[in-house]
Amino acid sequence: MTVVAITGASSGIGEATARELAARGAAVVLGARRTDRLEALAGDIRRQGGRAAVRAVDVTSRDDLAALVNLAVDEFGRLDVLVGNAGISRISPVADLDVDGWSAMIDVNVRGVLHGLAAALPVFERQRRGHFVTTISTAGLKITPTMAVYAGTKNAVRTVLEGLRTESTAGWLRTTSISPGYVRTELASSIDDPDLREQIQTSMNEFALDPEAVARAIAFAIEQPADVEIGDLTIRPASQN
Ligand SMILES: NC(=O)c1ccc[n+]([C@@H]2O[C@H](COP(=O)([O-])OP(=O)(O)OC[C@H]3O[C@@H](n4cnc5c(N)ncnc54)[C@H](OP(=O)(O)O)[C@@H]3O)[C@@H](O)[C@H]2O)c1
Repeated sequence: MTVVAITGASSGIGEATARELAARGAAVVLGARRTDRLEALAGDIRRQGGRAAVRAVDVTSRDDLAALVNLAVDEFGRLDVLVGNAGISRISPVADLDVDGWSAMIDVNVRGVLHGLAAALPVFERQRRGHFVTTISTAGLKITPTMAVYAGTKNAVRTVLEGLRTESTAGWLRTTSISPGYVRTELASSIDDPDLREQIQTSMNEFALDPEAVARAIAFAIEQPADVEIGDLTIRPASQN
């Protein structure tokens, strides 16, 4: 049994990943702020014979991430994988100077992932086994208007995971950065500007991937033999430019 903790498990990619991995036999440890959603998801998973534990997590709190990792160890004896997936996209043109939005993205998308690393790495070291998976974005590969700061947060995480990879060649730590293109989720709800929100929502409705596609990519990376590290995976709708 693989034990996987997932941040941002209350909707979208995180929720789909929890369902996919639980269906494949993993025990899942679910973190997000909307615990009603997490409880409902855990209930579904348990009804289908799976194992799930739930904790309220705000990834901007280092203590919350430590508690999520501890829950995995207390309930299931260890943590094999942490999926650092929680994220927000308060996108806008740089010239709008949405400093609050920038700060919020840095707090959730960058600090949130770092808090996960800080919580899980000591456990992985003790176990001599562990895997960090994170959801970054194609926004960081093809930089488009309104996405500059969002893309910057995603590329900061890309850089940190690649750095950690180069520091971790003893063979027991794996890192995977998943870069999705448009995925049909609730992500657009964090966009303040109504026109921009509508525009992104329209793209999502028109050609975005279902979150299950990303969940399957995450499962693929996790299920490789322990000596095989899938470093980067890009997964877009075939019609995305
Ligand atoms: N959808 C796309 O097109 C797309 C493309 C590339 C990358 N991504 C990335 O994929 C990841 C998942 O997003 P999604 O598309 O699945 O969107 P989503 O449906 O909005 O899910 C975002 C998740 O992040 C959680 N979250 C947000 N702020 C949080 C915080 N402070 N603490 C804990 N959890 C928090 C939310 O849970 P609560 O609100 O319950 O806390 C929710 O579960 C994000 O990192 C996003 O940047 C998405």
